[in-house]
Amino acid sequence: MEIQFRTFGCRDAAYQAEYALRNLVLRWPLGLDLKDEDLSRDEEDIHLGGFVDGRLAALLLLHPLGDGVYQMRQVCVAPEMQRMGYGRALVEAAERLLQERGGKKITLHARETAVPFYRKLGYAVSGEGFTEIGIPHLPMEKAL
Ligand SMILES: CC(C)(COP(=O)(O)OP(=O)(O)OC[C@H]1O[C@@H](n2cnc3c(N)ncnc32)[C@H](O)[C@@H]1OP(=O)(O)O)[C@@H](O)C(=O)NCCC(=O)NCCS
Repeated sequence: MEIQFRTFGCRDAAYQAEYALRNLVLRWPLGLDLKDEDLSRDEEDIHLGGFVDGRLAALLLLHPLGDGVYQMRQVCVAPEMQRMGYGRALVEAAERLLQERGGKKITLHARETAVPFYRKLGYAVSGEGFTEIGIPHLPMEKAL
C-alpha cells in the first residue's frame, strides 16, 4: 500500500486524527490519556503524517530546539500497520524534510522497546536512561 507524507498544523482536520492515533498507540496502552497533558508544545511543532488511502497511518512531531536541532517525538504507526516499513519511511521522510530546511541534528527520547528500530535507522544512544510517562527511555540522536 502506498503511503503519502504531508505536513499539517494544529488547526488542520488531520490534527483530530493525529490526536486519536497518539492516544490509541502511545497513551491508552499505558493507562494514560492526552486530555491530561499540556499539549501547548504541539503548536510549535512540525506535524508530519503518512496517509494510506487518505487515512492517517503514521505520524511524528518535530520540535525545533534551535541551531538546526529538532526533537522527534510522538512517533507512531497505526497498530494494524506496524512492521510493514511505514515507520522507517516516516522517519526517513522527516530527515529529508529537515535537511531541506537546513536541519543539522535530530534528537529523541526512545522508549526502550523502540531502541532497535531507531538503531536500524542510524540513531545512536547519547546518554543515560531515564523514566518518562512511567516507562524506561534512552536519549538517542542522529546527525543529518
Ligand atoms: C516503533 C514504530 C514507530 C516502528 O514503526 P514500524 O512501521 O512498526 O517499523 P518498520 O516496519 O518501519 O521497521 C523498520 C525496521 O525496524 C524493525 N523494528 C520495528 N519496530 C521494532 C521494535 N519495536 N523492536 C525491534 N525492531 C523493530 C523492523 O523489524 C524493521 O527491521 P528490518 O528493516 O530489518 O526489516 C511502531 O512499531 C510503533 O508505532 N510502535 C508503538 C509506539 C512506539 O513505540 N513508538 C516509539 C516511541 S519512542
